[in-house]
Amino acid sequence: MSSGAPVLPLAVVISGRGSNMEAIARFAQHPDSRYRVVRVIADRPGAGGLARAASLGVPTAVVPVKDFAERADFEAALAAEIDASGARLVALAGFMRILSAEFVQRFAGRLLNIHPSLLPKYKGLDTHARALAARESHHGASVHFVTAELDGGPVVMQGRLRVLPNDTPEAISARVHALEHIIYPHVCSLIGAGRVEWRAGTVYFDDEPLAAPLIEENDAAA
Ligand code: GRF
Repeated sequence: MSSGAPVLPLAVVISGRGSNMEAIARFAQHPDSRYRVVRVIADRPGAGGLARAASLGVPTAVVPVKDFAERADFEAALAAEIDASGARLVALAGFMRILSAEFVQRFAGRLLNIHPSLLPKYKGLDTHARALAARESHHGASVHFVTAELDGGPVVMQGRLRVLPNDTPEAISARVHALEHIIYPHVCSLIGAGRVEWRAGTVYFDDEPLAAPLIEENDAAA
C-alpha cells in the first residue's frame, strides 16, 4: 500500500485448484490492495492451489479433513490454523465443505465465500447447468458473507454476464470464473479499506446499509 496504511491480513481456504485464491494473492501484490494474504489453507494435501500459492511466495498449510473423525475436531483445527496465521478476514475459495453454525458464528463478519450464481438464485451445486436449463438471460457469481444458511449470507458484490444462445455449462463457467477473479479481490480490498463493513449482521458500504449487491457487469466477455 503506497500510503503506508495498514493492510488487512487475510487467509484463503481452498479445496481445489485455487484460481480464485491466485487472483486474490496476485491482487494483494498491487499497490492499491488493502489486504495481504498471510496463509493459504487447504483441507487436503492434493489441492492444486497449494503449489500455486507456494509459487507466489504465500505460506501454506494443510488441515487434512481425512485425519478427523468428527467435523467439530476438523473445524477446531481449521480455526486454530486461521488464528495462528493472524488473519482478520477469511476468504473461502472453492472450499468444498459445509461449515457448522458454531464455526460460522465464531468468524461472524470475517468470513467470505464466492458462489457461481447470481444469489439468491441457484444455491448449491451445478449452478451453470441449472441456469442454462432455466433459460436465464443473465448469470454470474456472488461474493457474500457466510452465515449459517448455506449460500444464504448477505451478498456484497455480483459479477453479472449475459447468457449466450448456444452456451454450454463449460463455456459459461469459464466466463463466470473470469468475473470471479475480478470481484473477489475487489471485495477483499473494499473490506480492507473499511469501505465494506459487517456491523451486527448488516453489511455497510461507505457507511450506508448495502441495500443491494454491488454489480460488476461484464458483457465484454459475452
Ligand atoms: C468457483 O467457481 C467458486 O465460485 C466456487 O468454487 C469454484 C472455485 O474455483 N465456490 P477455484 O478453485 O477458485 O478455481
